[in-house]
Amino acid sequence: MIVFNEKTKIFKLDTKATSYVMGLADGKYLGHIYYGKKLGAQGQDATDLSYLMRIEESPFVPSQNMRDKASFLDNFQMEYPFGGTGDFRESCINVISADGQEGLELVYAGHRIYQGKEKLEGLPATWGNNCETLEITLEDGPTGLKVLLSYSIFEDSDAVLRSAKAVNSGSQTIFINRMLSACLEMDNEAFEVLSLHGSWGRERHMARLPLTYGGYTTESIRGESSHQDHPFLAALTPGCTQESGEVYAMHFVYSGNFLAKAQVTCYDTLRMVMGIHPDYFRWKLEPGASFQAPETVLVYSGQGLGAMTHTFHDLYRNHLIRSSYKEKDRPVLINNWEATYFDFDTDKLTAIAKEASRLGIEMLVMDDGWFGNRNSDNCSLGDWTVNEEKLPGGLKRLVDEVHKLGMKFGIWFEPEMISPDSKLYKEHPDWALQLKGRTPVLAREQLVLDLSRPEVVDYVYGCLRNILTSAGIEYVKWDMNRQITDIGSSYLPKDQQGELSHRHTLAVYELQERLITEFPDLLLENCSGGGARFDPGMLYYSPQIWCSDDTDAVERLMIQEGTQLLYPLSTIGAHVSDCPNHMVGRVTPFETRGIVALAGTFGYELDITKISGQEREMVPGQIAAYKKYAPLVRDGEYYRIASYQENHFFDCYEIVSKDKSTAAVFCVQVLAQPNVRSRKLKLRGLDADALYEVEGKQYSGGALMYAGLLWERPSGDFQAKVVDVRRIEK
Ligand code: DGJ
Repeated sequence: MIVFNEKTKIFKLDTKATSYVMGLADGKYLGHIYYGKKLGAQGQDATDLSYLMRIEESPFVPSQNMRDKASFLDNFQMEYPFGGTGDFRESCINVISADGQEGLELVYAGHRIYQGKEKLEGLPATWGNNCETLEITLEDGPTGLKVLLSYSIFEDSDAVLRSAKAVNSGSQTIFINRMLSACLEMDNEAFEVLSLHGSWGRERHMARLPLTYGGYTTESIRGESSHQDHPFLAALTPGCTQESGEVYAMHFVYSGNFLAKAQVTCYDTLRMVMGIHPDYFRWKLEPGASFQAPETVLVYSGQGLGAMTHTFHDLYRNHLIRSSYKEKDRPVLINNWEATYFDFDTDKLTAIAKEASRLGIEMLVMDDGWFGNRNSDNCSLGDWTVNEEKLPGGLKRLVDEVHKLGMKFGIWFEPEMISPDSKLYKEHPDWALQLKGRTPVLAREQLVLDLSRPEVVDYVYGCLRNILTSAGIEYVKWDMNRQITDIGSSYLPKDQQGELSHRHTLAVYELQERLITEFPDLLLENCSGGGARFDPGMLYYSPQIWCSDDTDAVERLMIQEGTQLLYPLSTIGAHVSDCPNHMVGRVTPFETRGIVALAGTFGYELDITKISGQEREMVPGQIAAYKKYAPLVRDGEYYRIASYQENHFFDCYEIVSKDKSTAAVFCVQVLAQPNVRSRKLKLRGLDADALYEVEGKQYSGGALMYAGLLWERPSGDFQAKVVDVRRIEK
């Protein structure tokens, strides 16, 4: 419920368990008052919370004196801070006026509260009917810039969804050189920060650090959300665990450059901001034009990280993913990348498909290398015509063969790229991003297409469409294998070059929107050199995302833990691959690889005709396990019981059905420890008073959760098992 108290000038948003409160200082400045546990009765609060703005602590009250406005602007807890006029902390917005000057002052101009939530034009965002929105308009007098702040809450969620839109209602062109989406400000409580970091093959490892003066930044200027950082930032009260402590989290629904910053100020307050990175960003705003900044999800948990995770999982399942596949079991796929790399043809793929279908695998995905002259990664991106030397008789012949085996067929694309060694580049060298007078930088021997050109977007879409309509293709893997440099366009005018980075991301969204609209039954999986574009923005278009090119079962434990912190398990692309692992050279048991891949969209990434007979015969059992656990993976509540990243020996996570009747506990011993005979696992999320059966024995839910279940120490490293927990119905 959202209310505005006319008398106190306080806005209050109440979700099931939280309250978010803002107020107007002196009727003008929008200040942040409170975010946290629900303050009490729904709606109008008896307490006038305006005292929490502490306006009398600053010598300045705007309507009474102008003596020390600077000290007010420097310490007031702003809801949407602006730069250049006295707030020296991290700001959300700054503009360059028609006079070339930087600075603005945003004051309250009005608000509206309405049912539902408006779409963010061209951008991914949460959706749904059971929702209420508060839109507050702020205005800067001299430039005529209006900023519309939007706050939405869903009946069934504890998240607050924020976005901001700039409208030039003045008469002169202005340039936005910084426009973030949200700010969250509070008194410091010796907070720690939690964020996700890594590299190619090591995405989204959790990092937790004490927060101190100077602040903490996590960011990407790589043209994508990136392997390296993740558009997520949380402040945690000291000692916060899975079950206790307070968490203030921000997650950005965007797939391009981002900035997230936590800043401890000299007044011992904490300001957190999140939005499009101001580097490589300048947006021209002509009179009457508007700019929409993407959505940021805010989550507060008063019960530790576990409750934060549940809020994100449920929000993304119920209000972000749109694909009909989110309700369905995903086909168990086999991808030929690690099986063949570029060295394949119809015969090889058909042989893999035959053996795969015999074992119960449901879809063949043909990865990179099927088009142009692509026999390595040094050519042909942009030439999306089938290589008939590899696939004689064309794509349809192969697809039909695969369909005859009762399997679906999927295909790989990298639509945003162009190889200098391609027909496309010879015809249109100006279609590649480049800085005037410089040779653009190659990465993986490829360049990035200039998607600010409408004809390039149409060309790319036409290629995708031609291939998809030429044969019965049920799945597309959309890859992006390099980060973006040379952000220059030979198409955009010079005063709009600063728009290019964001325009690239918008064009990717537009292309994917066209694709899933024209092919509504298509299963789309996003990917970026592994998991560099695993972000909430992509989830709006594809219900699953390839998590990492690192398919080693041990490395995956850490990558998947960081990913599961925010994302429902059913969105996480996870495959069983061959050993020694191609990235780290480690050998782990086939069974363990299978169990680790169960916590995602299960599949294989190996040459099934070449693995040992013993391993091959384990495949039907693994598929049966995937089918058995698929409803839990899709709809269940995830609990982190133990973290290998933290303890360096073993990992344990549990998924419990929403009605608490079944659970599966995934246990992986990475390293055996001498003299540790068993481990006590304290389960969670069960009904304490109900009776459960586990491995033929009966326990109360309370015994399993508070006293714990014993896991006999297996012998040897890399051992895994899944323990079933089933409620005994009276
Ligand atoms: C990177 C992806 O993550 C891999 O799975 C594979 O598709 C390659 N690109 C192909 O170039």
